[in-house]
Amino acid sequence: MRITLDRRLPANHAARALRADAEAALTQRPKTLPPKWFYDEHGSTLFDRITRLPEYYLTRAERQILNAHADETARLTGARTLVELGSGTSTKTRVLLDALTAAGTLKLYAPVDVSAATLDRAAEAVCRDYPDLRVAATVADFETDLALPEHPEHPGPRLVAFLGSTLGNLDTEARATFLGRVRAELTVEGDALLLGVDLVKDPNTLIRAYDDDQGVTAAFDKNVLRVLNRELGADFDPGAFDHKAIWNAEAERIEMRLRARVAHRVEVPALALTADFARAEDLRTEISVKFRREPLTEELARAGLTVAHWWTDPQSRFAVLLATPS
Ligand code: SAH
Ligand code: AVI
Repeated sequence: MRITLDRRLPANHAARALRADAEAALTQRPKTLPPKWFYDEHGSTLFDRITRLPEYYLTRAERQILNAHADETARLTGARTLVELGSGTSTKTRVLLDALTAAGTLKLYAPVDVSAATLDRAAEAVCRDYPDLRVAATVADFETDLALPEHPEHPGPRLVAFLGSTLGNLDTEARATFLGRVRAELTVEGDALLLGVDLVKDPNTLIRAYDDDQGVTAAFDKNVLRVLNRELGADFDPGAFDHKAIWNAEAERIEMRLRARVAHRVEVPALALTADFARAEDLRTEISVKFRREPLTEELARAGLTVAHWWTDPQSRFAVLLATPS
């Protein structure tokens, strides 16, 4: 069989894990939800639209870098397995798949994502379009399970791709844990990490990327309230909140927040919980950290990873780096 789909999250994962996250979110100050809950089917479709917005330069800039350096990456790594964490629709990945299959080394593509429907569709499409490739897709939460295919059943060297600046959706502590786990898994000679990160730039460009004129990002942000309503029977009214994209200059990150337009109360029956929102109170739904070369190189070094190559787009908006175990 050329394609497998391993569903490592239980069917009631959304309800169970979301329950814990929502309870923590609604009882802490400021109210804060982890961003992984954006990506139900509708949220994944909205994210796909975001990647094509004029304001959201990240995807185009990263694709430019991959176009320029995919052949070199294939030559440098000789990867036989490409693992991709948070793979989404695997669209940009095709640049890497093309280069690695043209180089003749790649045997296996192993995408990992929490969003089962999106992963399923993406894996099918890759399998169809790359007839010589095996595809082993895994539905998993990469914060608790990296789902790397086991050696020696699957061939090394393995290239672990983490694109789109999804690393920036983790805070400092979560990034250290995540990068340490990735490093611990790079055990086969030649294994490497390919990491795409958005870079610090002028705040106006950043804010516009997260608050577009068509309101797609606002809809993406508010979709998380629909997820809470559906999974936990909550009665959030998306119309009672404004989408905000705020540049936190000290932490060098964009924060997406849903700001209550008026004071109101939300019932969450599955948690037997009532959440009171004051007027203008925020529910923080996402952080998107922006990086600088030196501090990120040091962060990777602390996790036991050495940056071997650092590539940017011509405007230095985004970087893709290749790191190997120190
Ligand atoms: N890599 C793609 C998609 C980025 S969107 C790109 O660069 O365009 C982020 C993706 O990560 C989504 O598909 C989302 O479902 C997935 N994701 C977010 N948090 C996750 C987690 N904790 N575990 C696994 N996948 C996650
Ligand atoms: C997936 N992640 C890197 C995106 C980002 O830019 O932080 C999610 C996103 N949020 C709003 N727009 C896009």
